[in-house]
Amino acid sequence: MRNGASDLPRPPGHGDPRPRERPLVTLPEEDLRWLDHATLLGRRGWGRVHPNPMVGCVLVRDGRVLAEGWHREFGGPHAELGALERSIEDPAGATAYVSLEPCRHQGKTPACTDALIHAGIGRVVYSVADPNKQAAGGGAALRAVRTAVSGPVWPASVGRRENPVFFHRQASGRPFVAAKLALSLDGRIAEAPGLRTTVTGPEALREAHRLRAGFEAVMIGSVTARVDDPRLTVREGGVTPRVPPTRIVLDTKASLSEAGAIFRETEGRVIVFVGESADRAKVARLEKAGAEVRQVRQGPHGLDLSAVLDAASARGIHSILCEGGGRLTGSFLAAGLVDRLYLFQSPRVLGSGGVPAFPGPLAEGFWTEWRAAFDPERLGEDVLTVYEREG
Ligand SMILES: NC(=O)c1ccc[n+]([C@@H]2O[C@H](COP(=O)([O-])OP(=O)(O)OC[C@H]3O[C@@H](n4cnc5c(N)ncnc54)[C@H](OP(=O)(O)O)[C@@H]3O)[C@@H](O)[C@H]2O)c1
Repeated sequence: MRNGASDLPRPPGHGDPRPRERPLVTLPEEDLRWLDHATLLGRRGWGRVHPNPMVGCVLVRDGRVLAEGWHREFGGPHAELGALERSIEDPAGATAYVSLEPCRHQGKTPACTDALIHAGIGRVVYSVADPNKQAAGGGAALRAVRTAVSGPVWPASVGRRENPVFFHRQASGRPFVAAKLALSLDGRIAEAPGLRTTVTGPEALREAHRLRAGFEAVMIGSVTARVDDPRLTVREGGVTPRVPPTRIVLDTKASLSEAGAIFRETEGRVIVFVGESADRAKVARLEKAGAEVRQVRQGPHGLDLSAVLDAASARGIHSILCEGGGRLTGSFLAAGLVDRLYLFQSPRVLGSGGVPAFPGPLAEGFWTEWRAAFDPERLGEDVLTVYEREG
């Protein structure tokens, strides 16, 4: 990739920025390459901008970069404003390549469309249409003042792949759920029930920490909380999340030990979801240990997951990374509530005594509705594949 953009930080598993779809408009390869470049710049916002989208912008004149910008921080300047501010010369007449349609509304920052017009930008090329109805229409506004516009260049599926949480939010009120598991070659997530097992290597572990940084909450089941005793914080991977993810445990009977590591670590609030019939004294103990305890109705396999997601949404949580174990992930999959899968696959074999990654019956169609969002990525001995739902 030109200008060293391939070295930029990016969300785990996001590989080649060039979409596999056909462009909606015919453009020279040069334009598509600059759009790829804008996408890579946008990815620098991982962990810092959500629930806003990651967006990048590059200003170009005669094949020369005048400025690069990206949305760096939630509430901060958008990518286009950042690029205009940094331009090494007057950008009038230059081309702006942006990975999302420039916004048309004044929110926390001025409308990007106005800023591009004011700067006299000659041409705007943008990847995908803004799905946010309040902000959309930037392309039409630019055309109305006779700025040359090419966009959207790519269909909405491309935007959904790059910024799944942001696109999901425009269409659904429930939190976006991604499931992450580390699997052995024979589909196990631990060597034996009750045994904490390191399935993947250090490179995968770092990526798993970076993955957490891009979510508002990280969730586990009660068995994982007991066996692995994780802190669920972001400690590796070089990304400091703008807000430490909320740590959630699903614990029907409020049986979690208040001596658990999750309570010793103060980074990120802790929410424990329990059943309506959970023992009051146990609930009080968890509250004393620092957890916010929410009671929700129960379903056949533990807590009712729709009720859990509704309650999380009411607590302002828009995205959740479910880190297992297998039973909790299986329940989410069976309920059709998983939007994305991050599978870290190790070449290790754990054998038939191991804990299965996907126990129990799964919803019809689970095995056929998915496709790899990006090319699988090698992480030391392991491979990360990101799966998204078809359609
Ligand atoms: N390799 C990996 O990526 C990975 C990741 C995580 C864990 N692990 C390993 O996996 C093992 C634990 O996995 P697991 O499958 O046995 O247990 P799990 O999924 O961690 O926890 C399952 C428990 O969560 C509670 N729960 C509440 N609501 C639920 C619902 N709707 N659906 C499912 N569970 C619900 C239930 O216990 P209550 O009713 O008592 O609340 C249930 O028994 C451990 O050995 C751990 O080391 C591996």
